[in-house]
Amino acid sequence: MDPFEGFKKTQKEGWAHFAPLEAVTSRPAAHLVKFAGLRGGQKVLDVACGTGVVAVTAARLGARVTALDLTPELLERARENARIAQVDIEFHEGDVEQLPFADATFDVVLSQFGHMFAPQPAVALAQMLRVLKPGGTIAFSTWPPDLMTGRMFALIARYSPPPPPGVAPPSQWGDRNVIRERLGSAVRDITFDTGTMLAPALSPQHFRHATEKTAGPLVKLVQMLSAGDPAKLADLRREDEALAAEYFHDNAVHQDYLMTRAVRN
Ligand SMILES: C[S@@+](CC[C@H](N)C(=O)[O-])C[C@H]1O[C@@H](n2cnc3c(N)ncnc32)[C@H](O)[C@@H]1O
Repeated sequence: MDPFEGFKKTQKEGWAHFAPLEAVTSRPAAHLVKFAGLRGGQKVLDVACGTGVVAVTAARLGARVTALDLTPELLERARENARIAQVDIEFHEGDVEQLPFADATFDVVLSQFGHMFAPQPAVALAQMLRVLKPGGTIAFSTWPPDLMTGRMFALIARYSPPPPPGVAPPSQWGDRNVIRERLGSAVRDITFDTGTMLAPALSPQHFRHATEKTAGPLVKLVQMLSAGDPAKLADLRREDEALAAEYFHDNAVHQDYLMTRAVRN
């Protein structure tokens, strides 16, 4: 029995509305695939694939792609994206903490803003490394805690009931020292790079409107506060817009991310 079953069920409900944000995560997907040095013919796993932006990008380069996500609504869209792009991708509904693949199956394991949401980082990472061949590449994109999206997670956490004991904050995965420590001696050649995701918006208020309908953890929090505490919801919205305003210029919110790449020993 998974001690985090209830937590993951809530996450799944929140992420069900994420599909419109694929327009924003598509360009960082190409950045991650390039950063991973992906080549045609490689066996690739996209973990927490969402609507398949990384998976489709990799498949269009000729990789043999498998992709997995917790949320069935997003997998439905991912299958449609693969059909539209005319690529074959094997999709699985599942949990990064229990990957349904044999040891040493893949040449490359990728995750864009995905595995960071698993409650147990050590379990998720051990699974991703288990299914990766020795000499294979693991590469992922994550949100640093001190920048826009990481700060947004901290804001959401401040307004939310505490998570079950043992759940690690997702943006720990955006800290280079934590990443080095977690990867430890299982890998070599750890390399970092950064990029900026642009979320087009007419104003910080537009950004807030859009994200509270699409971004998993915020969707759930806004639903909860709308029903139970409208005054607290108004405070959250004020803080959310003020944060977005710090990163808003040229009609986009600029969200910097960290990319990590390493080779499995
Ligand atoms: C921010 S979205 C990113 C989706 C996609 N990779 C992208 O870049 O557009 C986070 C994704 O993580 C998935 N997710 C969260 N927890 C997961 C878990 N334990 N196992 C697998 N997927 C998970 C969600 O369903 C969601 O699709």
